[in-house]
Amino acid sequence: STLFKAIPGSSAPSLVKRTYKVTVVGVGNVGMACAQTILTQDLCDEIALVDVVADKLKGEMLDLKHAAAFLPRATILADTDYKVTEGSDICIVTAGARQREGESRLALVEKNVALFKKIIPQLVKYSPETTLLIISNPVDALTYVALKLSGLPPNRVIGSGTNLDSSRFRWLLADHLDVNAQNVHGYIVGEHGDSSVPLWSTVSIGGVPLIGYLKQNNIDYSTGTLKELHRMVVDGAYEVIKLKGYTSWAIGYSVASLVKSVLRDQRRIHPVSVCAQGFHGIEDEVYLSLPAEIGRAGIIGVMDSPLTDEEREQLQKSAKTLSDIQQKLDI
Ligand code: NAD
Ligand code: LAC
Repeated sequence: STLFKAIPGSSAPSLVKRTYKVTVVGVGNVGMACAQTILTQDLCDEIALVDVVADKLKGEMLDLKHAAAFLPRATILADTDYKVTEGSDICIVTAGARQREGESRLALVEKNVALFKKIIPQLVKYSPETTLLIISNPVDALTYVALKLSGLPPNRVIGSGTNLDSSRFRWLLADHLDVNAQNVHGYIVGEHGDSSVPLWSTVSIGGVPLIGYLKQNNIDYSTGTLKELHRMVVDGAYEVIKLKGYTSWAIGYSVASLVKSVLRDQRRIHPVSVCAQGFHGIEDEVYLSLPAEIGRAGIIGVMDSPLTDEEREQLQKSAKTLSDIQQKLDI
């Protein structure tokens, strides 16, 4: 630039090139919540947006670019042509139909499998080294579909799964106990949705196992209260959809946390949709959420957490529901 002069005697530093590129497919409510959270958190240098609706795509791109003076610097690209996604470290797929009020996530499967047949091969064509992060619903079945259509190794195909349900769970517990949700640990596993399983045995507050904490603080609880709390987690999305038509902010933050764990090699443990075969007596090659360590290689490992007999039974039931759906898929 002519605006700046080099300091005498200076030389260009030998930089190790390390830039991160993220693609978001689908610029609806969810895709844009993901994009804006990722940009705000300075997680990438380049973001590519793809959708089939060209005007909306351009509008969303410009609207984000107009925030340049307030955001960490990043290149924002958008196109209906997948060439724009070339060389992406992560591709986030949020395209597709969403639930109408009262509709289950599983009802969306056929429509969204048809879209995935168009989307996934294009992503892998331009970014053969990418990690796929699947968000579209039903996310567990679609993560399996993405694995099959992409030919990528299973550690590089991740479904956002119950990372979101677990946050809803932690928030409800934190609210109930008047503590910070980040000090509440606990996992919801299984299906992202109706048959999800709360692992009460994993719940701790500030390192203290929940049941012990409740007793110590003379807080009354019953199995009914615990069941009710899980019901609120399951109903959470239905409630938001009834009230505002869709869910977006919480999934945006959930996805940004996963992107950070991958790109910054955080090796944090997230409950995400992975191949559950061989865990907890599950025999089928079924996708559902289990706590997994996530880093630059994608899924580094899945935790073989000890479950109670009841939790194991519920998880196997959730696996059966999802396996039945998977078997009917036309892929
Ligand atoms: P939306 O209708 O606002 O957006 C969907 C977008 O996908 C639209 O912009 C549409 O043009 C685009 N699209 C459709 N076909 C496409 C194609 N072939 N290629 C590229 N883009 C295409 O919907 P939304 O509210 O953003 O929800 C998107 C999906 O995310 C739904 O399936 C929803 O159920 C799911 N979702 C998942 C979670 C989760 O936790 N996994 C949370 C919220 C929503
Ligand atoms: C969620 C979506 C609808 O917010 O799956 O849970």
